[in-house]
Amino acid sequence: MQKQKLPSSGVARELLRVKGQFWTPDWVAEAMAAYVLKGEVKEVFDPAVGAGAFFRAAKKIAAESGKPIALSGTELNLEVLQQARQSGLTESDLANVQRRDFVLQPPQQRFKAILANPPYIRHHRLSGEVKAQLKKYGALLIGEPLDGRAGLHIYFLLRALELLDDDGRLAFLMPADTCEGIFANRLWRWITQHYRLDAVITFSPAASPFPQVDTNPIIFLLRKSAPTPSFFWAKCNQAESSHLKEWMSSEFHRAASTELSVAARSLEEGLTTGLSRTPGAGKNLSPVLADFATVMRGIATGANEFFFLTAAQAKALDLPHEFLLPAIGRTRDVSEEWVTQETIKQLETVGRPTLLFSPDGRPLNAFPLPVATYLRQGEALNLHQKPLISTRRPWYKMETRNVPPILFAYLGRRHTRFIRNLAGVLPLTGFLCVYPHQKEADYIEKLWQVLRHPQTVANLSRIGKSYGAGAIKVEPRALEQLPLSDAVLAKIGFQPVAKPAQLSLY
Ligand SMILES: C[S@@+](CC[C@H](N)C(=O)[O-])C[C@H]1O[C@@H](n2cnc3c(N)ncnc32)[C@H](O)[C@@H]1O
Repeated sequence: MQKQKLPSSGVARELLRVKGQFWTPDWVAEAMAAYVLKGEVKEVFDPAVGAGAFFRAAKKIAAESGKPIALSGTELNLEVLQQARQSGLTESDLANVQRRDFVLQPPQQRFKAILANPPYIRHHRLSGEVKAQLKKYGALLIGEPLDGRAGLHIYFLLRALELLDDDGRLAFLMPADTCEGIFANRLWRWITQHYRLDAVITFSPAASPFPQVDTNPIIFLLRKSAPTPSFFWAKCNQAESSHLKEWMSSEFHRAASTELSVAARSLEEGLTTGLSRTPGAGKNLSPVLADFATVMRGIATGANEFFFLTAAQAKALDLPHEFLLPAIGRTRDVSEEWVTQETIKQLETVGRPTLLFSPDGRPLNAFPLPVATYLRQGEALNLHQKPLISTRRPWYKMETRNVPPILFAYLGRRHTRFIRNLAGVLPLTGFLCVYPHQKEADYIEKLWQVLRHPQTVANLSRIGKSYGAGAIKVEPRALEQLPLSDAVLAKIGFQPVAKPAQLSLY
């Protein structure tokens, strides 16, 4: 089958996201099929058939071992089956594909072999009604509801596990949030108490099954039989590698190679570290950033177009200086490891906003006239009814922050993640604020040297959420747990300083 041609942006791409229509490449589908087709399997089930990657893979693997195989599945959007036909599947291959919602109207039977790349539909794209039904289903099965941020794919996995026959096998290709999301610990504790986790397969960015998509995919191989205290963890380092399929069909006996690294891990260690992370990554015995600094997110204005202004806009509005604070909005606006006055001047030259309009909480009429006039304009635009803004009292009272000496660009692919703030700017939400525990210049400088060290930057993958192609998103609390290597600290001549008690209030 030809590779799926993805629209790079726009409505067509958005439609794929809403329907979750990204096809599994054949080399990955065949490896997954090789695992589930072990033993006496007569039928393979795919809950989200799409263009039929798993049907083709199952037919191929069954043919290689000379066994017949029946195919069945569900698919919500039957029109995609046209692509399955074009890829060589016959009407009889597709005859047992039912149009239904696999999670909410599941088939009434059990399966020995299930293969899936479920729709990765994140929670904010699901309707309130569907979310409520999914949550209810999760609570019934697990005994307590999963956090509302669990996307549709999580419930696909749960439903598939529920429909697995005794000793049946399931191979799921899932995004890394399955084991990194806030719900992950509860989910995996439940799964591994009831099912056997045979293996987890991750991919290096260069080997990603979805090179053009911001997703870090992971394969989970699970079996309905007694749990065991260990599992295999592999990292596929080369796309189109036949080693992956050979390893999976050898029941994990084939030796590791440069194409595929393999480790046997204890379940407890894997669950503690996180199943998407390398073995031992969670052994956090070394110092962490929280020993040296606290972290907060940047300022959320609720309406950057109103509160984040260019110098020219601020001048035209005649806003007094006391209500304007130098600020930085997008990570793209800082291309180096420093923000300096020069950076700000350059941004002003190209017409980028650099000033945060920052009114305090006094009554509107108590502001100087230009400020009051501008705020009334905001009310005429109904800004005070916008979601975040409507929670503020009064609506225009801007969040406050001390100027952070170090910024962190919290979502991105670049290696330049920690930025030294030499311009005294306040960051908006594209950044996190890093506040060293001590204010002395020497302490800040040394901490920054530790943070920009490649070894520290590499450790971000231990605490962040991965989005494919090296992109990592890190939340403030997670950043505080960033491990700092003893060797790097020693090299820079740094000793941790106890965290001042009042800072824990953050
Ligand atoms: C990520 S694609 C995977 C397709 C194919 N199995 C593959 O791996 O290439 C997921 C498919 O699930 C379908 N889908 C979305 N929501 C569904 C639901 N609730 N029940 C069944 N199928 C659904 C989408 O139309 C899409 O074709």
